[in-house]
Amino acid sequence: MDFISELKEKSKYIDLKLEEYMPKETGYQKTVFEAMNYSLRAGGKRLRPVLLMESYRLCGGKDEAFIPFSIAIEMIHTYSLIHDDLPAIDNDDLRRGKATNHKVFGEAMSILAGDALLSHSFEIMLGESIVSKYPNRGLNASYEISKGAGIYGMIAGQVVDVESEGEHIDREKLDFIHMNKTAKMIIASMRAGAMLAGAEADKLDAVSVYGERIGLAFQIVDDILDVVGDEKTLGKHVGSDIENEKSTYPAIFGIDKSWEIARKLISQAKEKLDIFDSEDSLFLSNLSDYIINREY
Ligand code: IPE
Ligand code: IPE
Ligand code: MG
Ligand code: MG
Ligand code: MG
Repeated sequence: MDFISELKEKSKYIDLKLEEYMPKETGYQKTVFEAMNYSLRAGGKRLRPVLLMESYRLCGGKDEAFIPFSIAIEMIHTYSLIHDDLPAIDNDDLRRGKATNHKVFGEAMSILAGDALLSHSFEIMLGESIVSKYPNRGLNASYEISKGAGIYGMIAGQVVDVESEGEHIDREKLDFIHMNKTAKMIIASMRAGAMLAGAEADKLDAVSVYGERIGLAFQIVDDILDVVGDEKTLGKHVGSDIENEKSTYPAIFGIDKSWEIARKLISQAKEKLDIFDSEDSLFLSNLSDYIINREY
């Protein structure tokens, strides 16, 4: 099977599992369930849950113990997008090819839907860990994911991203934004998968650096696509960063140099897969190429 079909198959598998974890839209609080499910069902590449699953497999995981954690990381990611799109942050009205959450449910409910997805993800991860055959593996994975989403992770990046609007920042600060708002959740996906499989230190280390490199490249490409991408394919507005005077790679280095930096990061990521059997790591190797070849 070619890589793209394989990726589609894996993300469809995640979609199916995600349905099982979505709240039933009943009860007095059903509006928040509808808002959560609306954004979860809107689509998306499911990159983080697929990375978690592949890291689990690469490190020797054989069963389905990774699933609740894949679901949790996609819920956290989806919450981060709902809040990122709010008028007070990036003020976007198109996401995953659909109207943004606050456009459909209003700001109050979309803030609550984000809060709900975040807290529910912990309920899922911890609920799973306490009944697991390997509670410590589950707790370690939950801790990694908490850190990735937290104040020294995604939140840190989002804070500096917002505060740097309209400013000329240096590369160090820009890399702080990219590392934290995007790479930390991708690193957490890789590390959680490896920890759930009980990976040895050298493998955990290799997948962490792989995650860091593709994570940084992923955000550079996201910035580039915000300039040169196609709105319909991307499912989000092009030009949002320029409108918000965001500090991005293309804004600071231009498009060509940004591509060059992204390509270099991808080749560094691939080198980290060398310690694994090349057949076993083929999917992740192809996935790193896809990060820079993607159109959405
Ligand atoms: C968008 O993430 C936000 C960034 C961190 C750049 P994705 O491009 O993975 O969004 P979906 O999940 O596919 O919609
Ligand atoms: C957002 O970065 C990263 C998050 C943590 C949500 P962007 O603001 O560039 O993401 P998009 O372009 O809106 O998806
Ligand atoms: Mg943003
Ligand atoms: Mg945004
Ligand atoms: Mg962007």
